[in-house]
Amino acid sequence: MQRAVEDAIKNYENVDSWKTIIFLYNAALKEVGTKLEILNEEFQHVHQYNPIEHIKTRIKTPESIVKKLHRYGYETSIENMVKYINDIAGVRLICSFTSDIYRLAEMIGNQDDLKVLSIKDYIKNPKESGYKSYHMLVSVPIFLSDGPIDTKVEIQIRTIAMDFWASLEHKIYYKFEGNAPEHISRELKECADMVSELDDKMLSLNEEILTFKAVTEE
Ligand code: GTP
Ligand code: MG
Repeated sequence: MQRAVEDAIKNYENVDSWKTIIFLYNAALKEVGTKLEILNEEFQHVHQYNPIEHIKTRIKTPESIVKKLHRYGYETSIENMVKYINDIAGVRLICSFTSDIYRLAEMIGNQDDLKVLSIKDYIKNPKESGYKSYHMLVSVPIFLSDGPIDTKVEIQIRTIAMDFWASLEHKIYYKFEGNAPEHISRELKECADMVSELDDKMLSLNEEILTFKAVTEE
């Protein structure tokens, strides 16, 4: 099978090659998804608390893969897709509080079998649009019958509020093909500031509640 993957990368005109590659990314998604579920359950077991509110996984559609290759200026080939498209397999972790995001990022970084290839912290450095999220590109070894293959998975970690904002912004971006009227972009930016304020307030409220609980339990 490892051989089959290598052949698939070279022999991209073949529909079977495409299937082999998608099989690999699906396996990577399962590995990372299960790993994160276990970490979340362990955290619940030890601290009676879930850092992950929910997990979404997805495989990029062939249409978006081809579109992205074009946007990057590469020809459509399986070799280019494996090399240049980092988010074929994507996992999104939705948390309640910003502190959960960094806790999760640290837990992921400490997993011996995951290699962290890059990190983009759009919480400390939000995008021009107002987008906030913590992105990690990792690779996970997929153990096939004749050896392992490192496979890339993009992990996006954000709060419920950040996710709410990002899905609306994404919808608007597509609707206007990136050219939204000025007042819409401005109001979205205002919403992004409100999201940050909400996240900060919810976090400090939660911290206060936790210390209150600790006092009454003494
Ligand atoms: P892409 O080529 O768009 O993937 O960008 P990149 O490879 O430089 O990676 P980046 O970390 O900037 O973005 C990766 C993903 O984050 C995107 O595919 C989106 O899912 C999400 N994202 C990035 N910027 C925005 C944004 O402004 N709004 C929304 N809604 N999502 C964003
Ligand atoms: Mg990307």
